[in-house]
Amino acid sequence: MSDLIFSDSFINGEFYKTATRFSVDDPATGKSIIEVSDIDEQGVNTAINAAKGAFVKLKATNATERSDTLMRWYELVIKHKQTLATLMTKEQGKPLKESLGEIDYGAGFIKWFAEQAKRSYGDVIPATDNQHRLTSYKQPIGVVAGITPWNFPVAMVTRKVAPAYAAGCSFILKPSEHTPLCAIALAYLADQAGFVKGAFNVLVSQNAKDVGKMLTDSEVVRKFTFTGSTEVGKQLLSQCAETIKKTSMELGGNAPFIIFDNADIDDAIDGLMAAKFRNSGQACVAANRIFIQRSIMDKVLNKLTSKVAGLKVANGFEDEVDIGPLIYPEAKQKVQQLINDALSKGASLIGEQRDLGGSFQNPVIVNNVTPEMNIYHQEVFGPVLSIIPFDDEAEVLALSNDVPYGLAAYFYSQNIKQIYRVSEALEFGMVGVNEGVISNPVAPFGGVKQSGLGREGGHQGLDEYLEEKYVCIKV
Ligand code: SIN
Repeated sequence: MSDLIFSDSFINGEFYKTATRFSVDDPATGKSIIEVSDIDEQGVNTAINAAKGAFVKLKATNATERSDTLMRWYELVIKHKQTLATLMTKEQGKPLKESLGEIDYGAGFIKWFAEQAKRSYGDVIPATDNQHRLTSYKQPIGVVAGITPWNFPVAMVTRKVAPAYAAGCSFILKPSEHTPLCAIALAYLADQAGFVKGAFNVLVSQNAKDVGKMLTDSEVVRKFTFTGSTEVGKQLLSQCAETIKKTSMELGGNAPFIIFDNADIDDAIDGLMAAKFRNSGQACVAANRIFIQRSIMDKVLNKLTSKVAGLKVANGFEDEVDIGPLIYPEAKQKVQQLINDALSKGASLIGEQRDLGGSFQNPVIVNNVTPEMNIYHQEVFGPVLSIIPFDDEAEVLALSNDVPYGLAAYFYSQNIKQIYRVSEALEFGMVGVNEGVISNPVAPFGGVKQSGLGREGGHQGLDEYLEEKYVCIKV
């Protein structure tokens, strides 16, 4: 199909239709794009069996074959880049230029893991006597199930499915009910690329809780991978405990973005704009608490205010748009509640709150944020800059680390000693130094503390789908 819009789940290389349907809406207009099938219990069981059968077939493939198949998938995704990006802006709302960027980013995971498929090396272990030979090698874990979010509807899928296939695992994906269309299109293209039938199944459902429970309860599913909120991640982890599944959890963040007084201020502001306003602020790695050293506060705020005022908020298909709609109206209400709570506790607004209608939220700066305010502790997931002044390095490190999350952190400094000190002291899984966008398929993405378990991307991303087997041979 030329527009790659499909309305049903995808199981064992075929579309799976059900009578119950729900609407996928365009967040910019609030209008329905299409009605999609809501998976039933039988569909989930069919997918589990299909994935089980596919895993047996995958065992008969070798790494080079899987690498070649992944490379064909990569090429198809790139060939359909414009169509997939259009689909993404329709169902997710982000500006088309960002959707195009996400297709490259998402395809990058496929290419990277096509290459890494051939590099899952084992060990030959020096024996402790002359009668034994000790080796250790990696085997695919088996059937994997995953749940992916709506904020990056392509990249969050490819960075799970590509390493799983590279390792030789089959996959059952439950994408967000807000953005299932990109996921189905990806599975359709994977099938066209020659994926083993049943190796990539997509379950479309608006009932993540029940589908998630069936997947976590299944004895067949050996690994569960989730990207989403810490709250839901904890629930899924406890469900996975019953069958002792291997898990990867990419959960919430509360990223500090620190500008020290020796920073290149223009550079820092460019980095901040990117770290904050990518996807209208709807990213777990988005800058959430912006710490600015008091001595440069006025200078930074003046420049920042004029940059923010120049941002265009509109439908993602309009020219030169910087900020699209938030995913749904309740998301905007939550952002406004956070702003109002901060203002009621003594913060001040730079710029004005304008009612742009629908799910559109204009960007604002909230100054003098303190730990007493909800906005300090919660992921804003919207285009709001929360500004916190600080006096010295020790103070800002203590504030940055004093949260239960540890996904991404950023800081701007031109002092090399400070760069080493601060990057080592920040209790976060990823640190951007003089850089506001750090995600990259070749590097390990993931958090510490309540931000998650495991890593995606990098050479580490493949290991998440492999088990180590130690073999001791008596000779
Ligand atoms: C996220 O923050 O939700 C993922 C963003 C990324 O991969 O850069």
